[in-house]
Amino acid sequence: MEEKNLNQIGVSFKGSGSYVPDQILTNQKISQKVDTSDEWIKSRTGISERRISSLGDNVTDMGYKAALNAIDNANWDVKTIDLIVLATSTPHDLFGSAPSIQAKLGASNAVAFDLTAACSGFLFALITASQFLKGGNFKRAVVIGADQLSSFVDWKDRRSCILFGDGAGALAIEATNEFDNFIGFDMRTDGKRGSFLNLPSKNKKDSIIDNIDFLSGSFSPIQMNGQEVYKFAVKEVPIILDKLFREKNYTSDQVDWLVLHQANQRILDSVGERLKIPREKILSNLEKYGNTSAATIPLMMDEAIRNQNIKQNDIIATSGFGAGLSWGAALIKWG
Ligand code: UT7
Repeated sequence: MEEKNLNQIGVSFKGSGSYVPDQILTNQKISQKVDTSDEWIKSRTGISERRISSLGDNVTDMGYKAALNAIDNANWDVKTIDLIVLATSTPHDLFGSAPSIQAKLGASNAVAFDLTAACSGFLFALITASQFLKGGNFKRAVVIGADQLSSFVDWKDRRSCILFGDGAGALAIEATNEFDNFIGFDMRTDGKRGSFLNLPSKNKKDSIIDNIDFLSGSFSPIQMNGQEVYKFAVKEVPIILDKLFREKNYTSDQVDWLVLHQANQRILDSVGERLKIPREKILSNLEKYGNTSAATIPLMMDEAIRNQNIKQNDIIATSGFGAGLSWGAALIKWG
């Protein structure tokens, strides 16, 4: 690690990248598996199809490809990267998948670790990395959100299996001593409401030798109380964003883009309405990818940056929310 540079006062956004697996699971195909319909899923969620990982598309593979895209987009030499944070709840290796991504990238000077906060994961990772940069210890960071929830979905549960898909996205961010494009953030957790959305471990008792038990490790499929998660999101997300706008002396009409965790189109519309942000400023790619958990925000941002919706100096309000329950918001200026 190089000497600390206390002049690093701000963060700038240098590049974006994403990756989704090739396999497409349409609503029509899901309706061959569970009792649902394209019409029901589209009208209740806005989702038409989602991507599903297969061999060669685990979280390490997807995260690596998204990170490589972001690094290319930023035009960085991989050796100049100091920090890699991977937000995921579905690592390929429970000890952490970020080190494998670091090795695949050849980013040998970067420290790399995973961060778990479900659908708030990318936002929490972006905030975490920004604090390291502003602290003066690191200059360049790659923040990745990647998830493969298809491995943990109960494909017989129509109330949840219709929502999720797989994918990855990444942003390349850099410390600067000239300005700060990371305008502000806020983060919240309410563990008391945690039972609304879980991917819990299955504690199956076994014994090592006589009288010494252990709990073998595996996970139960995703368990979700959809209505409660819905109510939580439409209530808390406008509150946290509104508070952030007030703290930073912004009004919602100064926001160019609202980039919310892509959970359900009705949640996006409701948050937009409450904040008086018009529909054309609310980015959505739910239709194509569904809810890719930690990947939704960078996947959405990368798409909007590449198709030149998001431009230099645009103001972006973003919010991640989900299991924990956890939620957060950030206000950034692109560039
Ligand atoms: O990252 C966060 C992840 N989680 C979320 O974002 C979840 C947020 N919640 C939601 O998006 C919505 O609650 C869902 C899309 C999950 C469900 O929509 P809803 O409008 O809240 O439906 P509901 O649970 O109130 O169910 C309404 C009806 C029920 O039938 P009855 O009891 O009224 O006869 C369900 O059994 O719809 C039925 N239903 C379905 N029907 C067809 C539930 N899932 C399906 C389905 N296809 N896939």
